[in-house]
Amino acid sequence: MNGKAPRYWAVIPAAGGGARMGLNKAKQYLGLRGRAMLEWSVAPFLDSGWIDGVVLVLAKSDQDYAKLPIARHPKIVTTLGGAARAESVLSGLEVVADRTQGLEEVYVLLHDAARPCLDWADLARLRDESDDKHGGLLAVPVADTLKKGKQGKVSSTLDRSFIWRAQTPQLFRLDLLRAALRECEERNLEVTDEASAMERAGYKPRLVRGRESNLKVTYPEDLLLAEFWLAHAESQP
Ligand code: CTP
Ligand code: MG
Repeated sequence: MNGKAPRYWAVIPAAGGGARMGLNKAKQYLGLRGRAMLEWSVAPFLDSGWIDGVVLVLAKSDQDYAKLPIARHPKIVTTLGGAARAESVLSGLEVVADRTQGLEEVYVLLHDAARPCLDWADLARLRDESDDKHGGLLAVPVADTLKKGKQGKVSSTLDRSFIWRAQTPQLFRLDLLRAALRECEERNLEVTDEASAMERAGYKPRLVRGRESNLKVTYPEDLLLAEFWLAHAESQP
């Protein structure tokens, strides 16, 4: 990052219904070690000391957020999400744009509400190692040997040395990310993470080495893993 005074905001999309968990409660509100998953996911951003505000994007039908202790946190702003994750993110970015009008260099960190085990030090490293223009994301190299399959049989072994698994947070300049996401929206292109929208716009986000513990809780068995990592958290702000 350059020597000017960049401002940082976080956007946490939390408007999903958690269909793959198969419960009748959105996964971000499940309890983990005495706190809701969402509270764990938001905590590193609130405690960072360098992030000005956190926009939480909630589902229209959300009945749970208002009951959480963080609901009245002065750094949190809430807004409503859409049917797809990218829609929820764009809605959060609008709030950031609104709150940072007139500021020249605004960066936004996107983080899944379903990733409660983000290491505080990794968040700071993402800021330090991301590129001003191209941005960056936490990612982990693939450990397993990768096979390409055809009709249930191996057709080849892939070179895994260039394969990474993308995580969040991902960090981009607000104006560049908004333009990239809007472009995808207009062209009806599927966006699975914010980096892919930036890539389509010609940017090359930096891969910042993260860790396995920053898992996205997707299936019920992931809850046990998340509990384990929260109990063994390495760094604290
Ligand atoms: N998300 C969102 N708006 C959507 C869809 C997802 O804000 N329309 C958020 C989720 O709340 C989650 C993150 O994006 O924090 C990652 O999505 P995912 O893990 O897929 O969560 P869900 O969509 O809730 O789960 P599922 O796909 O199993 O329904
Ligand atoms: Mg989903």
